[in-house]
Amino acid sequence: MQPAKHEHWSSGFTFLLAAVGSAVGLGNIWRFPYVVAENGGGAFVLIYLAIVIVFGIPLLMSELMIGRSSQKPPLGAMQSFGGSRVQKLWDAVGWSYLLVPMGILTFYSVVAGWTLDYAFGMGIGTFNNLEEGASARMFQELLASPVKLVFWMTLSIGITVGIVARGLKSGLETTVKILMPALFIILIILVLYASITGDFARSVTFMFEPDFSKITPKLVLMAAGQAFFSLSLGSGAIMVYGSYLTRDISIPKMAVGVAFADTAVALLAGFAIFPIVFAFGVDHAAGPGLVFVTLPIVFNDMGGIGQIFGVLFFLLLAFAAITSTISLLEPMVAELSEEGKFKRARAAIYCGAVLWFVGVFVALSNNILSDVHPLGFLPLFEGKTIEGVIEFLSANVFMLLNGMMVSIFVGWSVKRSVTLEEMGLGDSVLFKIWFLLVRFVVPLGVGFIFYDVVL
Ligand code: PFF
Repeated sequence: MQPAKHEHWSSGFTFLLAAVGSAVGLGNIWRFPYVVAENGGGAFVLIYLAIVIVFGIPLLMSELMIGRSSQKPPLGAMQSFGGSRVQKLWDAVGWSYLLVPMGILTFYSVVAGWTLDYAFGMGIGTFNNLEEGASARMFQELLASPVKLVFWMTLSIGITVGIVARGLKSGLETTVKILMPALFIILIILVLYASITGDFARSVTFMFEPDFSKITPKLVLMAAGQAFFSLSLGSGAIMVYGSYLTRDISIPKMAVGVAFADTAVALLAGFAIFPIVFAFGVDHAAGPGLVFVTLPIVFNDMGGIGQIFGVLFFLLLAFAAITSTISLLEPMVAELSEEGKFKRARAAIYCGAVLWFVGVFVALSNNILSDVHPLGFLPLFEGKTIEGVIEFLSANVFMLLNGMMVSIFVGWSVKRSVTLEEMGLGDSVLFKIWFLLVRFVVPLGVGFIFYDVVL
């Protein structure tokens, strides 16, 4: 079979929409606000911003560079620079860049399914006239229902496969061109509403006034993990999107654009949620339930208009999720179709089938399989469910390891002349700073974080 042709984005702007779409997801809107609330507000935000600048942007540039320079999906990309004595190691990293996103997708699709369930439920009025405690109970009921979880997960995988099967231009580009502007508009409406009716001043203090005594090693680790996940690093998406870039586009500019937009959306999500949470006096540190348990109460208290905002909010979440899931499926599908193994549509369907199969176990680990602890005999995995194990391995262990290995690859293995040319910064101070970060600061910093999280 003929290998599929390697396509390119229509413009730098469409790349930016897609890459920001990948970065902006459940990590920004669902996870960021509750992690901020649980970890001391301003202090967390400050460290997070520092990590995005020192680790995030240099790594984004490195991954984009590997993609663009090789014009290949991750495995092919890691093999195409040639001449390394430890090529087997780089092959393994390439494989890891294909498998990590698949691992993330198995649990990400389940949570994306929750957002579809909530958008639908809000629309038909399931969350109207909530009694005391009803919202927590409804969230528990969703988690306890194998049928519902599998149904919504199947839908989210189906949508993702449908889009990726259509290819770069008519699949991914068309989707992000519609969903990303919609996402920004909904987010702005929600922030405006929250700033008019909610306690905006308290939210600003909460998010931006750091209490330095709260900065602990654990906080730094949490911030680093959140930054990696939020910027889609170490997981193939950015690398494969980079491979669709044409040579006239500036990698440093794109990397800064992605990091800036992703961070802005995370902060805006905070400003959409905290003002109303504070104004209604509900618990702002409610953990993962902040969005799924607390917000329905708030929307309910708002009366009729609350239902509209509820639908908008969960649609926002669903759109953000979909533009991320497509970027998680793309690396493997691109690899299989460009290697000439399968046609793109077929590759997408096969990957979807595997994801669905594993996803069922992940979904059921919220209920019927909650007592199954696959690697429970190892201390590191004690008490972790199937979902817990996959999430820990893909989003904590291998994502960080991938980021570390790629910075070593770019800093020490790829020829300096290649990196110089790809960055387009000349042999300037900016280039030198980036190179220094990628050679020393990123591998050592990420290595240290990895050591602390895993070992
Ligand atoms: N960045 C996405 C989020 O914040 O929800 C998650 C993600 C997407 C991680 C794509 C990794 C990835 F490759």
